[in-house]
Amino acid sequence: MRERLPQITQEALQSIQIARNLEDLKNTRVRFLGRKGLLTEILRGMGNLPPEERPLLGQLANASRQEIEARLSQREMELKEEEKESRWKREALDVTLPGVELPRGHKHPLRQVWEEIEAIFISMGFEVAHGPEVETDFYNFEALNIPPDHPARDMQDSFFFTEEILLRTQTSPVQIRTMQARAPRLPVKIIAPGRVYRRDDDATHSPMFHQVEGLLVDTGVTFGDLKGTLETFARRLYGPGTRIRLRPSYFPFTEPSAEVDVSCTICGGQGCRVCKGTGWLEILGTGMVHPGVLQNGGYDPEKVTGFAFGMGIERVAMLKYGIDDLRHFFTNDIRFLEQF
Ligand code: FA5
Ligand code: MG
Repeated sequence: MRERLPQITQEALQSIQIARNLEDLKNTRVRFLGRKGLLTEILRGMGNLPPEERPLLGQLANASRQEIEARLSQREMELKEEEKESRWKREALDVTLPGVELPRGHKHPLRQVWEEIEAIFISMGFEVAHGPEVETDFYNFEALNIPPDHPARDMQDSFFFTEEILLRTQTSPVQIRTMQARAPRLPVKIIAPGRVYRRDDDATHSPMFHQVEGLLVDTGVTFGDLKGTLETFARRLYGPGTRIRLRPSYFPFTEPSAEVDVSCTICGGQGCRVCKGTGWLEILGTGMVHPGVLQNGGYDPEKVTGFAFGMGIERVAMLKYGIDDLRHFFTNDIRFLEQF
């Protein structure tokens, strides 16, 4: 038994040393110190020894037990530390891995065209002005020579909050607001982009759409200035070969009035489905500012003249990209939007 003791101790210490994890270590403890463990058996077998041998062997066995216990708890600490470290390594973030690419959006095609139009007019010296979308009857109609019973109101029905307050049907009220804020300073040279609302709904008419108003008031402004400005604009937007055509028209707030057609960008003026075979497409209404409107804005029509125009951004964009139904702009179909 005296020879077995150091042997068992040695075995225990070795087994502790090679334990690769806490599970191994637990098994080792059971194998040597458990209820049926090897060292436990020796201690139990001492009863069979001659009494004089018992104290010495008892001492030796206890010393072994203590040594094994000490090594066990030391190894346990080591293994816990190792496990923690390997877990860190397993779960660590590899900053060199390529990231997950998030789909990146871009500006809506209408917004792109809006900004393009703005940039062209800014380069010609126009400032950008804004007005409210919730407008009064006075600014939206009356100050623009459209009194309550005027037939021009029929084409511009809107949502009325009260008899006096409505969703604006055009950006033209910004003409009056800007003139009133500036008078009598000259020149007034602005564009006013924004949202407008009408009781409309078909392939070329949306209940909510966008216009860009233009207004130039100064001494000696002529119809030639109007034509030159719009021609320059059309060529910058649609290309140098683009031609424009002015057709006589009517607006209560301009005199004379015209509508401007652009040579069809889809067929180059040959005639196609988009221009309905004519080779021309309408993009805006325009004219020389009516004397009464200048007066409502605070300017003397005997001293100044001006021109104004209003274009639909959806129409301008449809022409630019050859889109045949303006409702595509508002249905948010990603397959459509991704093309711009
Ligand atoms: C006007 O709104 C005038 N205020 C334009 C103007 C301004 C004339 C300054 C003279 C001086 P009109 O109703 O034609 O005019 O509309 C102008 C443009 O807006 C049209 O040429 C068209 O491009 C666009 N438009 C009109 N209604 C709709 C609609 N429901 N949906 C999309 N675009 C529209
Ligand atoms: Mg029109």
